[in-house]
Amino acid sequence: MAKKSSIVYYCKECGFESAKWLGQCPGCKEWNSFVEAPTVKTRSGKDVIKTIEERTPVTLGQIDTTSEERMATGFSELDRVLGGGIVPGALMLVGGDPGIGKSTLLLQVCRNISSTGKNVLYISGEESLKQIKIRANRIGEFTDNLKLLCETNLDVIENVIKNDPPQLVIIDSIQTMFREDVDSAPGSVGQVRESTNALMHLAKGLAVPIFIVGHVTKEGVVAGPRMLEHMVDTVIYFEGDRHATYRIVRGVKNRFGSTNEIGVFEMQQVGLRQVLNPSEYLLEGRPEGASGSVVACLIEGTRPILVETQALISRTNFGMPRRTSAGIDYNRVNLLMAVIEKRLGVSLGDCDAYVNIVGGMKVQEPALDLAVVLAILSSYNNKPIAADTIVFGEVGLSGEIRSVSMTAQRVSEAKKLGFKKCIMPKVSMDALDDVSGITVVGVENLNELLSLRV
Ligand code: TYD
Ligand code: MG
Repeated sequence: MAKKSSIVYYCKECGFESAKWLGQCPGCKEWNSFVEAPTVKTRSGKDVIKTIEERTPVTLGQIDTTSEERMATGFSELDRVLGGGIVPGALMLVGGDPGIGKSTLLLQVCRNISSTGKNVLYISGEESLKQIKIRANRIGEFTDNLKLLCETNLDVIENVIKNDPPQLVIIDSIQTMFREDVDSAPGSVGQVRESTNALMHLAKGLAVPIFIVGHVTKEGVVAGPRMLEHMVDTVIYFEGDRHATYRIVRGVKNRFGSTNEIGVFEMQQVGLRQVLNPSEYLLEGRPEGASGSVVACLIEGTRPILVETQALISRTNFGMPRRTSAGIDYNRVNLLMAVIEKRLGVSLGDCDAYVNIVGGMKVQEPALDLAVVLAILSSYNNKPIAADTIVFGEVGLSGEIRSVSMTAQRVSEAKKLGFKKCIMPKVSMDALDDVSGITVVGVENLNELLSLRV
């Protein structure tokens, strides 16, 4: 009888497993995403640290949650992203470009938590103890409650944690970790998957929260199988331009709180500092009297945030018009330009267009639409928009301005920052109660917007 093959194939995108290589993944329909990885011998029962009570079904009333107190990270901005602090036994993935500040932020969290008397273990597979010390010196004083370990062998790490469970563990980074019983190289799909699995068992079994650092690919998702995101409880990403000083931490998945909350930080000489008034921060240095610049009010999670939207429209010199966007979906910009052409008769077909959200934030909220449209029109006509005007609203394909949620919060944030005029969807105006101190203008469609002559 032929020996059973010990190779399986995984989809890099969704973790779909197959006995043979496939051109297209049946799971997520991605092409050319299968990679080879040796099968893993299961370690029967070795990881399971469950008590007998946990193996018998219980009622909700029998579950004791009094000990489930969340641990504060010392950064209210990060706590909000995590849904109010660190939950015991949570497995949290921190992703982001290299050098954006993942290790720095986590070391600062270690410092804050260890200074409250809790034991913290920082495991690095990337840097030497000396390198970590140099970084720690920039950040400040540490207590002896923080222990460091340079190790990449997960079996060793598992023993260290089981022997003396700390109250928080940091794994920097998952791509450097390996398990001896998996034959592939560290960073490969099989290793990343099995390492995360082992860490999940540890976190759940000992109720120790674990932060995992994950590197991202060119496309901006955590390297290794997409499945990594399914396995962990919380996924947070760093956004922002590495060359600018601010960093945005965004929760994209959270089993213990709302997602899409953001926290804003600033990189300084002494590590990251949280920014408690992000709107002010993001609007800093806004050009005065320049065309193509509009301030929009967005909702990130539960919090209103003001961002500057910029557009530059210029005549194409030859051939195909160029269109680029930063911080907003490229296709959305194309769609909005098509709506402007069709509904307002403005010919943008022979124009280059560049649209940018200042501050490195990535915006997905459709409430930004109206600001993008206004910025494009302002740049096209070379007519600046008054600096004290704020805009929000979704634009539909027939040029109608559709309602958005949480209008009252948006208007009050604008008021707080001294804006005097607000252009918003007419249908959402009913939700407003207090409009003193700000002129609110409701618009129904793009033609109405044009007739405002803002
Ligand atoms: P780092 O945390 O090493 O990034 P990651 O772990 O995400 O790869 O980020 C390091 C960058 O931050 C590096 O370019 C130097 C800068 N930095 C400061 O500006 N100030 C500081 O106090 C520290 C520790 C780092
Ligand atoms: Mg690092």
